Amino acid sequence: MADKKVGGAGGVTRRALLKGAGAAGAAAALAGSVEALAQETDGGGAGGAVAGPGPVRMTLSVNGKARKIVAPPRRTLLDVLRSDLDLTGAKKACDRGTCGACTIWLDGKPVYACMVLAIEAIGHEITTIEGLGTPDALHPVQAAFGKHDALQCGFCTPGFVMTTAWAVEKHGKRLDRQLVMAETSGNLCRCGTYSHVIAAALDAAGAAADAAPDEREGR
Ligand code: FES
Ligand code: FES
Repeated sequence: MADKKVGGAGGVTRRALLKGAGAAGAAAALAGSVEALAQETDGGGAGGAVAGPGPVRMTLSVNGKARKIVAPPRRTLLDVLRSDLDLTGAKKACDRGTCGACTIWLDGKPVYACMVLAIEAIGHEITTIEGLGTPDALHPVQAAFGKHDALQCGFCTPGFVMTTAWAVEKHGKRLDRQLVMAETSGNLCRCGTYSHVIAAALDAAGAAADAAPDEREGR
């Protein structure tokens, strides 16, 4: 059967119109329907309300700003940060709570973002490496990592910096080699930059220089 034209003699066929509309509008329609179906939640399950399994509207506090997202409750905070909010500093390596590449702060304490659901983070302050310092005003730990060459491929570095910055703030000048090793034991570096990380941590903390290891160690 011949396709009917729409829009007059110079118009397009009904098939082309529908195909065009489908291609152009599919994403918007999908996003619209997800938004329309989304359930509002405060994350607390107030009144025994169950969130999900469909998409849920959430507001997260990330680096001091309220960020609104629509995501299913099963979505991890790491995926939301990286894919929904375009904050790709936290890295997805093991995705199993083992390597620490995804470390962020939740209410000022380091956590594996791959082990936290975004919905669980509602009402908590999330800090990512992007919120720790800026290129013009680095956090002392970020600056110390550069000074002490505490990275090679850099994949573990954002997570290491987040944990180390927390340890420096927690211990200050009391930080020593053993404490750095203990506090960063949940972060793995496949390139083996541990001795440089320790040196950077002690420097950032203003700890005794003679506590710093030989920087060639481990290389
Ligand atoms: S990616 Fe989260 S701990 Fe490895
Ligand atoms: S610098 Fe390569 S994994 Fe740590």
